[in-house]
Amino acid sequence: MKLQMVDVVGQYQKIKGDVDGAIHRVCDSGQFILGKEVGEFECEVAGYLGVTYAVGCASGTDALQIAMMALGIGPGDEVISTPFTFVATAETIALIGAKPVYVDIDPRTYNIDPARIERAITPRTKAIIPVHLYGQAAGMDEIMALARKHKLRVIEDAAQAFGAAYKGKKVCSIGDIGAISFFPSKNLGGFGDGGMMVTSDPALHDQMRMIAAHGSKVRYYHDLIGVNSRLDTLQAAILRVKLRHLDRWNEDRRAAAHRYNALLAGTPVEVPFESADGVHIFHQYTVRAPERDALAAHLKAKGIPHAIYYPVPLHLQKAFAMSGGKQGDFPVTEGAARDVLSLPMHTELNEEQQILITQPIKEFYGVQ
Ligand SMILES: Cc1ncc(COP(=O)(O)O)c(C=O)c1O
Repeated sequence: MKLQMVDVVGQYQKIKGDVDGAIHRVCDSGQFILGKEVGEFECEVAGYLGVTYAVGCASGTDALQIAMMALGIGPGDEVISTPFTFVATAETIALIGAKPVYVDIDPRTYNIDPARIERAITPRTKAIIPVHLYGQAAGMDEIMALARKHKLRVIEDAAQAFGAAYKGKKVCSIGDIGAISFFPSKNLGGFGDGGMMVTSDPALHDQMRMIAAHGSKVRYYHDLIGVNSRLDTLQAAILRVKLRHLDRWNEDRRAAAHRYNALLAGTPVEVPFESADGVHIFHQYTVRAPERDALAAHLKAKGIPHAIYYPVPLHLQKAFAMSGGKQGDFPVTEGAARDVLSLPMHTELNEEQQILITQPIKEFYGVQ
């Protein structure tokens, strides 16, 4: 039996007719840039998330960058975020000339710890970027309260959490802007790169749409310096088909996560914490494992796919060496980077596969 971290082909096979139809519709139309499919997909995403506006772009990374540009963030500004995330979150802050300021994480959810944020706020702070890591919402009530108190803007990095909820609301509909990735392995993944910014603020919507289109509203008239970042029409057509299945797929992921929890019971592995404040959609199934590196080597020897998201916290990355981050700065994050291990998680995962995946873990810890 073939075990994989993600199974995008297996998922495609089940909806092949509709996806192929959508691809051919775009090919037959000859409209490959923007157009009806992109506009309709933007409306469908906005409706799904409960926001007013959505703007397609080329990736989740671009979504973060354009969101910050639309908020007027730039050199001299500070943006608060987590050191335990994919590099894009802080990379885009640095790329626009601002300074990423990290705040340690909650050891249970791995998300930014709201209780530590206020200490990191300075007169230069412009925004907070909580990341809904692994598919679980950050503590948005506390974050929004701090943002209001200190007049800061909030960009939700929902690259890993499309469809997740927090206190009855979809993530992305709580902060000023939500940034989404449609990278193929994401819960809503395209057949290539893609992303989206969402907001309910008309001024931010206008600004983001302009920035994504070379700073122009009317062709060849450029009001500001922007970028070229568009969601391909082909991706939009494919994603429209997939959006219709998303809630069921997220349920399938949750069911698979709960099966893992049961299979791992009795081992020293700490299964993912699910906050009662929201709905975790398990972009990743990530455990905390004693002797993680030895377990990973054992799984590798047994041919069991696994991954470490993320082995090096951002404050310790070479690319950010100029910020002077050092070991010990964010102990909770550093502990997570040492202990976490993600197991295969996708919509096609079944119990038989999960037994094969968890058996060597039990073996490793000497548990039957
Ligand atoms: C938390 C987080 N932010 C941002 C991104 C960037 O998204 P993309 O790969 O679409 O640029 C990712 C993607 O992996 C991510 O996991």
